[in-house]
Amino acid sequence: MFVKKQIETANKLREAGIIPVLVLEDVDSGLRLCEVLERAGLTAAEITYRTKAAPEVIREAKKRFPNLFLGAGTVLNTDHLHQAFDLGASFAVAPGFNPTIVGEAVKKGYAFSPGIATPSELEQAFEMGVRMFKFFPAEALGGVAMIKNIIAPYRHLGVHFMPTGGVTAANAADWLAVPEIVCVGGTWLGRPDDVKAGNWDKIEKDGRAAIELLASVRK
Ligand code: 3PG
Repeated sequence: MFVKKQIETANKLREAGIIPVLVLEDVDSGLRLCEVLERAGLTAAEITYRTKAAPEVIREAKKRFPNLFLGAGTVLNTDHLHQAFDLGASFAVAPGFNPTIVGEAVKKGYAFSPGIATPSELEQAFEMGVRMFKFFPAEALGGVAMIKNIIAPYRHLGVHFMPTGGVTAANAADWLAVPEIVCVGGTWLGRPDDVKAGNWDKIEKDGRAAIELLASVRK
């Protein structure tokens, strides 16, 4: 059940291709942001548990934007894991590999993807059933060259990745060119300072540019 969910999630994330990683200070601007990003053509978003508003935004966004593949990010404990899925999140991710959280996700059949940074972490998570991994912090770890080297000995097992951390419009295409990378994530779409300033047109423009970029990589 857990492994099947992992593959299904990887497929859904591949359809989306680019995942805005959102840090939202309040529900109203969070919902407005989801609306703008969806209008720009993005089909998924990660709402991070870095702010108090996160659970409320997940709940409301799920109702208002049923077509958005909505995930919870920065899930650092099992309370947030349970809460995110209770509120309707379709997937959840974390920056690191915490066996307690993965164990709980396995038990519940939740589509949870831990972050890995090394082959050792990958192997431990893989053994628990993880097939869809976050790779974090992607650029600082060594970028595309690093993930290609990590993937090589595990490719035959069927592993899928979402790099985040330093991924931007400038390098997203390089990441997306790697077949095992189903999508990239980043905070460059819907940045907190742009949201705060109400730069909705700019956010929408950035979103459209991201979709064009995706189309050009996948043509
Ligand atoms: C994450 O949670 O995935 C990262 O904080 C995103 O990193 P970025 O801010 O460099 O895009």
